[in-house]
Amino acid sequence: MPGTQIPISARPRMILFSARQYDVDTFAEANTAFQYELHYQESHLDADTAVIADGYDVVCPFVNDTVDAATLERLHKGGTRLVALRSAGFNHVDLAAAQRLGITVARVPAYSPHAVAEHAVGLILALNRKLPRAVSRTREGDFSLAGLLGFDLHGKTAGVVGTGIIGRCFARIMAGFGMQVLAHDPGTPAADLLALGARYVPLDTLLAQSDVVSLHCPLVPATRHLIDRHALAKMKRGAMLINTGRGGLVESSALVDALKSGQLGHLGLDVYEEEGGLFFEDHSDAPLQDDVLARLLMFPNVIVTSHQAFFTREAMSEIAQTTLRNVEAWRNGSPANLVDAPHG
Ligand code: NAI
Repeated sequence: MPGTQIPISARPRMILFSARQYDVDTFAEANTAFQYELHYQESHLDADTAVIADGYDVVCPFVNDTVDAATLERLHKGGTRLVALRSAGFNHVDLAAAQRLGITVARVPAYSPHAVAEHAVGLILALNRKLPRAVSRTREGDFSLAGLLGFDLHGKTAGVVGTGIIGRCFARIMAGFGMQVLAHDPGTPAADLLALGARYVPLDTLLAQSDVVSLHCPLVPATRHLIDRHALAKMKRGAMLINTGRGGLVESSALVDALKSGQLGHLGLDVYEEEGGLFFEDHSDAPLQDDVLARLLMFPNVIVTSHQAFFTREAMSEIAQTTLRNVEAWRNGSPANLVDAPHG
């Protein structure tokens, strides 16, 4: 329930949660044009840490912060009126609660689709040509090739699930490799992909016919576990699955069986269902508590990166600039890049 209205200060006070040195560097540079009062907080945002934001008009969370109803209520009590996400994804925000409290939520819808699409391609090449294994071999003085056999991408089929900004960018690169592109998206087919010769097909057809399946749709209730054990069983035997979307798109525990049986030939994950509290941090001194992830990391045909697909200089700079522009637009009464609460 909305409390006493707290006026927006003349110069917004903004606090970034889960801030690392690279956030400080890029936001400080972008802020030269805005001169907002920025505060950087290393802690994650959740209902317990939200108190740190007391007196800040604007809170800027990152992808693994918990922006649920309890957190939003505490933020609202402290005077926060804008949640300026420094991400494209917004699955970590309770939008209905934000709307109820009168807290505006903005995001950075597109910063560098190239960063994420190129990382997905990086995972494909590294998996196919077994680059991590090849590098550790040559470093040991082992110059043999056994076990490093890959396949030509040219002539194979890439399945793109979600043809928004990133999926389209990815599909164009795949077409550049000489791959057939199959696409699945409940929205309107993208004209540029149709012009490239891509075919829109039902998900089951895409899974059955693709040699590489790459996920680029958002995590919403309808896409949770889009790739579950049944979907994995529908894939071409030995195909490759790449997830740079969100961890919850894939039923992680089903991956282990699919890899053990050989049904899934390669797996590249930049995001993981239970990545919160793990990714973006150094846990190398502690035993890994997540048994599914520990098992996945042991497969030679699996590569896991820790949500780094967005992490290029260009993307970081664009994220900081758009986030601050979103704050400026909100201050001026014409908020931009809003994330709306689901209807119904
Ligand atoms: P976008 O909003 O431009 O495109 C998403 C597309 O997915 C839309 O065309 C939508 O119609 C489609 N879609 C929705 N439900 C679907 C379903 N059931 N099956 C197939 N397609 C479906 O979003 P954008 O910018 O392309 O980003 C996609 C996702 O990538 C984000 O939601 C985010 O989760 C993830 N991402 C990951 C990053 C990383 O560092 N790993 C960085 C940035 C985004």
